[in-house]
Amino acid sequence: MGDVVRVGLLGCGNVGAAVARMLHEHGDEISRRAGTAIEVTRVAVRDLDKPRDVPVPAGLFTDDPYDVVRDRDVDVVVEVMGGIEPARSLILEAFRQGKPVVTANKELLATLSRELFESAAAGRVDLLYEAAVGGGIPLIRPLREHLAGDRIVRFMGIVNGTTNYILTRMTEDGWSLGQALADAQRLGFAEADPSADLEGHDAAAKAAILASIAFDLPVAAGDVYREGIMAITPDDIRFAKQLGYVVKLLAIAEGDGQEVSVRVHPAMIPAGHPLASVRESFNAVYIEGERVGPLMLYGRGAGGDPTATSVVGDVIELARSRTSGGARSLIGHADHPGVPSELAPRRLKPIEEMQAQYYMLMRAADRPGVLATIALVFAEHMVSIKSVWQEGHAEEAQIVLITHRARERALQACVRDLRLIDTVKAVSSVIRVEAAEP
Ligand SMILES: NC(=O)c1ccc[n+]([C@@H]2O[C@H](COP(=O)([O-])OP(=O)(O)OC[C@H]3O[C@@H](n4cnc5c(N)ncnc54)[C@H](OP(=O)(O)O)[C@@H]3O)[C@@H](O)[C@H]2O)c1
Repeated sequence: MGDVVRVGLLGCGNVGAAVARMLHEHGDEISRRAGTAIEVTRVAVRDLDKPRDVPVPAGLFTDDPYDVVRDRDVDVVVEVMGGIEPARSLILEAFRQGKPVVTANKELLATLSRELFESAAAGRVDLLYEAAVGGGIPLIRPLREHLAGDRIVRFMGIVNGTTNYILTRMTEDGWSLGQALADAQRLGFAEADPSADLEGHDAAAKAAILASIAFDLPVAAGDVYREGIMAITPDDIRFAKQLGYVVKLLAIAEGDGQEVSVRVHPAMIPAGHPLASVRESFNAVYIEGERVGPLMLYGRGAGGDPTATSVVGDVIELARSRTSGGARSLIGHADHPGVPSELAPRRLKPIEEMQAQYYMLMRAADRPGVLATIALVFAEHMVSIKSVWQEGHAEEAQIVLITHRARERALQACVRDLRLIDTVKAVSSVIRVEAAEP
């Protein structure tokens, strides 16, 4: 690289345009901090005729992204087009050309990280991805650098803004999931097809990326146990409130000896927990380290400008390492950067073996002895009940209960047997309760 670090953008949508604007508008500060000027010299888009509010001359645009990756006037490739292909092939080509890559593409990283990091290592170039999880929230670098000396015990994150917005409206305004989703779509927080958010796919991709770093084992999105928020009802939200909890969609990873559990599901957390105050479309990750104790990183998990901050931070980091002449090693292990070396091989723990507390909502006949029958089923499966609450409605009672910590396998067996009791009309909800009991 010369006096100027020349950036080729793959994509100029929400994030790409914000990156181009930030590099231009904050140019003086950026060049002082990076020790070199950073300029956009090439941009690939799909539609050359689309009007764009970016300070980049029209002549630098192309609709062939390989023009960007192979251009001699591009030192760093910034992939902000999204999707698996052609993003994957373009990144691999950039590595072959000896160019480092900055990406915001969680989908790609959560499915093909090993191939990408191995190719980066083979080309002795870097792949940085701070923007891929948590938009503008610094998460990757704090985990990889600041906390590298500690052992992470657990992290719990609200990493999807759409579902957090929906759950906030359900909690604070008493709306149904459908009403809250329609509102999120009206405000542009939710896609026309919101399934990736509502079913937890987006959160699972982010959980996989964070867990890989925090627990030194390769985790793909498909390895993550996943439940979305579609089954959450206003009744669950109301009972959670009465019991002193808040319902959130959490991405959780926790280490237990040589095992790591990585999962995404709705959970009740105590109303006093720091994550309970993460409202609207904000994101946060609460990390517990063996020595550092608890810490929380909070902010805007999406949006062009916040996400561009992370992308530009990565580009500056690359520029600095070039100006200082040092080979970067931000992404870890020399032979296998980003895919941790297996010093202490760990195994992903199946969901049946995890332990949690559980909230359960049932409808049952409002008759003497029903509660005793239910309690017996719990006892048979060694699941201990912490509290029970019953509301009568004519012939039928709604029974809400919270268990002590129990194994998932035992709890599922308990639910199966409860459904066989003829006085139990329905087990309508089962939600894990996190961070309440040690
Ligand atoms: N938006 C966020 O808040 C956010 C937050 C964190 C991470 N991310 C990640 O950042 C990436 C970009 O997101 P975004 O919201 O900026 O997406 P976007 O607004 O849809 O922009 C995508 C850009 O890529 C271009 N593009 C797509 N396919 C192309 C192809 N085959 N050839 C050339 N250009 C192509 C599009 O061109 P046209 O403009 O011509 O259509 C567009 O400029 C994604 O990986 C996303 O997951 C986004």
